[in-house]
Amino acid sequence: MRGVVDPELGASLVDLGMYRGARIGPDGAVTVEVALTTAGCPLRAQIAGDVKGRVGSLPGVTSVEVQTVEMSSQQKKELMARARARAAEQPVATEVPARTRVLAVSSGKGGVGKSSVTVNLAAALAGRGLTIGLLDADIAGFSVPRMLGVDGELVATAGPDGRPRIEPLVKPVGEGVVRVVSMGFLSPEHEAIMWRGQMLNRGVQHFLEEVAWGDLDYLLVDMPPGTGDIQMGLARMLPRAEMLIVTTPALAAQKVAARAADMARKGYLRVAGVIENMSGFVCDHGTRYDLFGAGGGARLAEEIGAPLLASIPLQPEVSAGGDSGRPAALGDGDAASAFKELADAVVDVAPVVDVTDCTARMLDGIRRQLDGAGPPGQA
Ligand SMILES: Nc1ncnc2c1ncn2[C@@H]1O[C@H](COP(=O)(O)OP(=O)(O)O)[C@@H](O)[C@H]1O
Ligand SMILES: [Mg+2]
Repeated sequence: MRGVVDPELGASLVDLGMYRGARIGPDGAVTVEVALTTAGCPLRAQIAGDVKGRVGSLPGVTSVEVQTVEMSSQQKKELMARARARAAEQPVATEVPARTRVLAVSSGKGGVGKSSVTVNLAAALAGRGLTIGLLDADIAGFSVPRMLGVDGELVATAGPDGRPRIEPLVKPVGEGVVRVVSMGFLSPEHEAIMWRGQMLNRGVQHFLEEVAWGDLDYLLVDMPPGTGDIQMGLARMLPRAEMLIVTTPALAAQKVAARAADMARKGYLRVAGVIENMSGFVCDHGTRYDLFGAGGGARLAEEIGAPLLASIPLQPEVSAGGDSGRPAALGDGDAASAFKELADAVVDVAPVVDVTDCTARMLDGIRRQLDGAGPPGQA
């Protein structure tokens, strides 16, 4: 439950006291009780969906029911006090807006197409008019700049509070936009980056804290292969992040990917879905060749209890697009339609909401108090 975050207050339901407890039946049926500020809270569906996603992916859970109750005015006061204390304690929060869905594209090993999937998914989502952030967290093995066809240098300026602020580079796609940061914008492509675990992690932390992301619908994170420091660091810095696990159809890849999913669970990151990449190649005559086997995505999805969001065919357009910086998702062809399907599925399992009402007014009140209006301790 620590991973379920109130999209407005940006803190976990546990820390905010909105989580009231759970009953676990002998058959694995779980009922979770959540207290909301108002019964008609427009975020109710999202919060309930997140609870179901997190709890439902735990081993042994057969069903999840979410019961909501309305807070008393005393409880609302306490909630505000907690949110205020938290905001005061953590002046250096990430620059990622609380309502943004954070999706980390991961796999157990390299070369399965994480970066290709991330870049094409970003392009497909932006093509729907959405605002997408793309954080290349593969600090040492960055490939996003070339694949997305974005070139330039990141420039840091001193923000109003004296802290550095980095402007992301921008790639407009149709009505939407992709804002992107990568080590590739700081270091020439041929220069090897020899940083060790903790330093790599600091790199990602800088990107989260100092980049002026602005309002984003989705933040996609292109993860390095494996289950190391960066994954743990992301879980700590952005506990609401969810994983998209990429696997190839081969049995061996699926086993490795399952380990990544397992680590996601231990780090309390929810797996939002599985993406099978490099599945059947269809030649010009329409014959399908399962070059890397078949069914790995479906098997993995079943094993970890997450939906299979899409199968991306093995197509030369994908690798050619990656080399030329024109993502295949923006063309037409089998790969483009598969990436569009993937974008639809992502919007479905991880919808973004408009934060307009609900606790928004309470949050404004908290901000005003933080700005020095009211005495501390008074809600
Ligand atoms: N669906 C696909 N069809 C054809 N080539 C692909 C596909 N997905 C990835 N590739 C190619 O495979 C290689 C590895 O992909 P990449 O996205 O860099 O993997 P990762 O980020 O997991 O290491 C790249 O050369 C890429 O162009
Ligand atoms: Mg990669």
